[in-house]
Amino acid sequence: HTVEWDAEETGKSGYDHYMLKEIHEQPRALRKCLRGRVDELGGTVELDELDEPPRPTAVQFVACGTSYHAALYGAQLFQDAGIPAQAFLASEYVTSPPPTGDALVVGVTQSGETADTLSALREAKGRGARTLALTNVVGSTVSRECDHVIYIRAGPEIGVAASKTFASQLAALNLFALATANGGDRDGLGALRDLPSEVQAVIDDSTAADVAAEYLDADGYFFIGRGLNYPVALEGALKLKEITYRHAEGFAAGELKHGPLALVTENTPVIAIATGDGELARKTVGNVKEVEARNAPVIAVTDGQSDIERYADHVLPIPETHPRTAAVLANVQLQLFAYHTAARLGRSIDKPRNLAKSVTVE
Ligand code: G6P
Repeated sequence: HTVEWDAEETGKSGYDHYMLKEIHEQPRALRKCLRGRVDELGGTVELDELDEPPRPTAVQFVACGTSYHAALYGAQLFQDAGIPAQAFLASEYVTSPPPTGDALVVGVTQSGETADTLSALREAKGRGARTLALTNVVGSTVSRECDHVIYIRAGPEIGVAASKTFASQLAALNLFALATANGGDRDGLGALRDLPSEVQAVIDDSTAADVAAEYLDADGYFFIGRGLNYPVALEGALKLKEITYRHAEGFAAGELKHGPLALVTENTPVIAIATGDGELARKTVGNVKEVEARNAPVIAVTDGQSDIERYADHVLPIPETHPRTAAVLANVQLQLFAYHTAARLGRSIDKPRNLAKSVTVE
C-alpha cells in the first residue's frame, strides 16, 4: 500500500513550524560554519574563500533588518580588535561620509539579494572601496558582485524571520574578525569551539515557552542590553514584532531612562540581557532596578555572573562563556520567547503578514 506524504510536514521533520526547526538546527549550522576554519592549536582562523585576508585600515558594514543587527555586532568585534569599524543601515549608507584609506565595505545579507544592501555596496564600489559579502547563498548576486565573499554555511532557511542565519552570521563575523586581526586569540577560538554544544544546552533547558505564556496580553515588550548584547536586544524585539504582531522595542539599556521609561508599566515586560560580571552588566542591573521600581515584570537573560536575578521575575539562563558567544546564547532564549509567544497567539509564524524573506526593491 501507499503512504501519503505531506511535503510540508516532511520538510518540517515533525516540528510545528520551520522556524522552530531552524532554531533547533543552530548547533548543526554553527558546526558547519566553523568546520575546517579554526586551528585552535595554532590560534589561527583559515577562511578558504579569501586567498589572503584583506587587511583594511577601517571596516564599514552595510545591512538591513536582522543582518543589520549582526553588522552592529560585527562592528564591535573589529573595534575591539583595534580596527575602526561602523555599521550602517544599507538604505542610509548613501548619506554617509565616504570611507577613508584602505577601507573595506562589508555587506551582511543572508539571501545575498536584498536591494538596499546591493545598492549600498555598489555605492561603496563607486567610491573606490573594496567590498566583501558575508552571505548564506552561494552564487547570489552579492557573492558575484563583491571582491571577496565569506559564506556562513547555515543551510537553507525557510522561515521568513531569520533565526539560524543570524547565529551563523555572528559566528562567521567572529571568524572574519579573528582572521583579519591575525589570530592569536585562543580564548575567542575556544569559545567558538564550545558554542554549538552550548546552544544545544540552552535549547534543551529553555523555559522560554512557560515565561512567554504569562505575557500574552502585554501592552508591549522592551528589550535592553549593552555592548554586544545591545544588537541582541534589538534583534529580540524585531523577532517578536515580526512573528507576533505585538509592539516591541529594543534599546541600549542606558537609553531607557532617556524617554522610553515613560512607556514602562506593570503591563510591559522588560527583557534584560546581562552577561559577565563587568561594568556593562552592573550598569544594566541598575537600569533593571529602575523598571522594577515601576512594577514592570522583568525577564532576565543571564549567565548568573551579576545580581540581576534579585530584581527579576523570571530568569532565562545561559552558561557562563566569552562575551562574544554569550550574545549568541542570549539570542537563542529570545528566539524561543518570540516563537512561543507567536505560537500561543496562533500566528502565521513561517510567513508573517506583509513580510518577505528577501526584499528586492528599495
Ligand atoms: C527581509 C527579511 C528580514 C531580513 C532582511 C534582510 O526584510 O524579512 O528577515 O533580515 O530582509 O535580509 P538579508 O537577506 O539581506 O539578510
